[in-house]
Amino acid sequence: MALVKIEGVSKVFKEASLPVQALTSIHVEIQKGEFTAFCGPSGSGKTTLLNLIGCLDRPSEGKVHLENEEVSSLAQGKLATIRRRKIGFIFQDFNLIPTLTVRENIEYVLWLQGETESLRRQKSKALAERFGIGKLLSRRPAQISRGQQQRVACARAIIHKPLLIIGDELTANLDHKTGAELMDFIKKLNREEGLTFLYATHDPIMMERASRVVRMQDGRIIDGKG
Ligand SMILES: Nc1ncnc2c1ncn2[C@@H]1O[C@H](COP(=O)(O)OP(=O)(O)OP(=O)(O)O)[C@@H](O)[C@H]1O
Ligand SMILES: [Mg+2]
Repeated sequence: MALVKIEGVSKVFKEASLPVQALTSIHVEIQKGEFTAFCGPSGSGKTTLLNLIGCLDRPSEGKVHLENEEVSSLAQGKLATIRRRKIGFIFQDFNLIPTLTVRENIEYVLWLQGETESLRRQKSKALAERFGIGKLLSRRPAQISRGQQQRVACARAIIHKPLLIIGDELTANLDHKTGAELMDFIKKLNREEGLTFLYATHDPIMMERASRVVRMQDGRIIDGKG
């Protein structure tokens, strides 16, 4: 069974004065454990597609299945619940919440899910230690390095054991070495825990790290459908 199944998906943005056809008849399947890069020119639809897979948005046509569940027709509230439970996002600028401590940032999704404090603590501590940031738990994001912030962002994205992790251009604002370190780190999680990771990138070096490359152009997949 595919983890993600996209069937005949199109997306038209109608809010603008002229409708924009961002995706046209997309078919693609993602299997558990894949490490997949989505690439293609700016405006080719990478972010739009990742947002549909990540339950941040719904298609205009077609179906999106996560595991066995069709999520494309769910109402916003239900979509948010699925997102919290099944998806982990690592954002380009990490989006750590500056007023929260490292611990609170890592625990954030668990807190949204209503997890008890003791369980939250236990999980965040274990993960932080594994990621080498165990001593930083009471600091705030501004008081740790960029590399440490990456690790916090990774810990936060996986603490609830999501089905899949999505990173949209997540290395775009990083220098090469830091970006490569982040990818190696995620790759290790992928190898050791079978975490499924989908990312959009322009960077050829980031594409090389993928086990599968899906190429997009003008809202269509032109290669790597799988
Ligand atoms: N909310 C929106 N309203 C209208 N048009 C949109 C919206 N979001 C995206 N688009 C349009 O949809 C198309 C696909 O955009 P998308 O952001 O998915 O491209 P991308 O491949 O991620 O590009 P980039 O590499 O620059 O991030 C573009 O033509 C874009 O202008
Ligand atoms: Mg994009």
